[in-house]
Amino acid sequence: MKVISSKDSVNKISQDLLVVVCSPAEIKPKGKSPKQRNQLSFDSINRAFNGSLVGRAKKVDFKAKDGQCLALDAPNRFNFAALMLHGWDLDQKSAFEVLMSYRKLGASIFEQAERRRAESVCLASANLDLDNESNLLALYEGLVLSAYEYKRYKSEKKDEYKGIQQLALGGQHGFSRKLQELGDLLCEATFVARDLVNTPPRDCTPSVLRDKCREVARQEKLKLEVLDRKALKRLAANALLAVAQGSDEPPFLLKLTYRPKKIRDKNVISLVGKGVTFDSGGLSIKSASGMETMKYDMAGAAAVIAVMSVISRLQPAMEVRAYIPTTENMISGGATRPGDVVRAMNGKSIEILNTDAEGRLILADALSLAVKEKSDYIVDLATLTGAVVVALGPEYAGLFSGQESLVSELGAAAELSGERLWRMPLANEYKEMIKSHVADIKNTGGSWGGAITAAMFLKEFVGDSKWAHLDIAGPAYAESPKGYIKKGGVGFGVRTLLRFLLNFRQ
Ligand code: BES
Ligand code: ZN
Ligand code: ZN
Repeated sequence: MKVISSKDSVNKISQDLLVVVCSPAEIKPKGKSPKQRNQLSFDSINRAFNGSLVGRAKKVDFKAKDGQCLALDAPNRFNFAALMLHGWDLDQKSAFEVLMSYRKLGASIFEQAERRRAESVCLASANLDLDNESNLLALYEGLVLSAYEYKRYKSEKKDEYKGIQQLALGGQHGFSRKLQELGDLLCEATFVARDLVNTPPRDCTPSVLRDKCREVARQEKLKLEVLDRKALKRLAANALLAVAQGSDEPPFLLKLTYRPKKIRDKNVISLVGKGVTFDSGGLSIKSASGMETMKYDMAGAAAVIAVMSVISRLQPAMEVRAYIPTTENMISGGATRPGDVVRAMNGKSIEILNTDAEGRLILADALSLAVKEKSDYIVDLATLTGAVVVALGPEYAGLFSGQESLVSELGAAAELSGERLWRMPLANEYKEMIKSHVADIKNTGGSWGGAITAAMFLKEFVGDSKWAHLDIAGPAYAESPKGYIKKGGVGFGVRTLLRFLLNFRQ
C-alpha cells in the first residue's frame, strides 16, 4: 500500500473512495465544522452534494455517533466514486480508547473499501490528529490487520480483492517510510501468529512448530536449538516429558536466540510461550465442547515465534531469547495418571492431580531452563486457565508480576497496541493451595482463584528472575469477528511484545 500525503491533493486526484470523518456536533443543523486548511468537513462535502447529504443522513438516522458509518455512491460529476462518512467522538475517551478509535477507523475504511473493491482511498482528516505517530500507526494497523483471512483449506478461490493500493492521508508530516515499515512488520508478525493458531491440530504438531522455528531462524539469522526427547531426558525436563507421554507426536523444547549486531542494552530478555498443540485434557479429559477449540492452546508459542519472525528487521537493543516448550496433551495406555509424581528440571517434585493442568507443567521446565541460562527478564505467555476467562472475560489477559517496572512497561506497550491487560494478584497466601502431601507442590489449586494458583505454581520455577506472566486464554482466540480481529486466532500479544522490546527501558 502506497501512502501519500493528501495535503493538497484531496480535490485533485480521482479516488475510488473518499472518507470524511465527522463529529456529532458538525452534522447538527448550523453545526460548526472544524477548521483545517485543505481538509474536507461534513459541511463542505454537503455543499458539494447541493445540501442533499443532510436529508440522506436524516433518513438513515446517521448522527455521526462514534464509529457510525454512512456510505453512498457519488454522482458522476465528482472525482471520487463513493463517499463514506465516519462518526467521530473522542469525548471522555481514555488514551487507550482514543488509539482504539483510530484502529477502528482503519478497520471500517478497509471494510468499506473491500465491499467496493476500492484501490485508491482518500481520508479527509479535519477531525483527526495525524501528526501524532501513535495515532497514525494505530490507523494503519487497523487497515492492514483487517485484511487477514485464513484460506488454507478453502477449495473455492474467491475473486480476490487486492486491497487498497494507494491511500492519501492528511497531516503535516505525512506517514514516514520508517513508520510504515514498523507498521508492516507488526502486522506481518501478527499474521504469523494467527496462521499458526488457526492451523488444525493435525497440521500444527510440535514438529511443525519446530519446522516453523527453522524457517524463522534462517530468515532472521537467529540461532535455533532443538531439544528433542533425548535431550529433554538428559536435562531432566520431566514435567514436559510427563505431558508428552500420552502422545504419539514427539515433544520439543525449542529455543531461538537473537543477538543484536551491536548490543545497546546488556539485559537478556527471555520470552516463554506455551505450545500445547492440542489439549484433550489427557486422562482428566475435557468435555466435547471444552475440547473444540483446543488447537489454540499453543497461542503463547505462536506469539513468541511470531515476535522472533521479524526481530532482526526491528533490531531491539538487547539479546532476546524465545523458549517454546511444545507437545500434545493426549491419552494412551502410557499417558500420565492423576496421582503421578514427577521431578521438574529445577529439582522440585510435582504431584500431577489433574492432567488437564498441563500448561504449567511444560512451562515449569521451560522457565527453569530460562533461569538456568541466566535471563535478566522473563515474560511468559500462555493460554493457561479457564479461570482467567471466568474472571476477566474474552478481552483481557491477566498480568501477574511482582516486578513493577515490567508491569508498567508491558502496560504501556499494550496500550499502544490496543491489547487489554489487567493486573492480577500473585498472592503468597495462596501458596498453601498448591501444597502437596506427597510432593513439593501439586498442579491444581482447588476451586477458587484458579488463574492465581496457576501463576503461583509458575512462580516456583522462576527463582529470583524478574518475571511477568500473561494468561491469554481469553483474548487469544476470537469466537466471533470484530473489526480488525477475525474469527479464530487473534495474534494476541505479538504487537505488545514487539513494542515492549523496542521501547524497553530498564
Ligand atoms: N488450556 C487450558 C486452559 C484454557 C481453558 C484455555 C479454556 C483456553 C480456554 C488448560 O490447560 C486447562 O485445561 N486448565 C484447567 C486447569 C484446571 C484443571 C486446574 C482449567 O482451566 O480448567
Ligand atoms: Zn489443559
Ligand atoms: Zn492447556
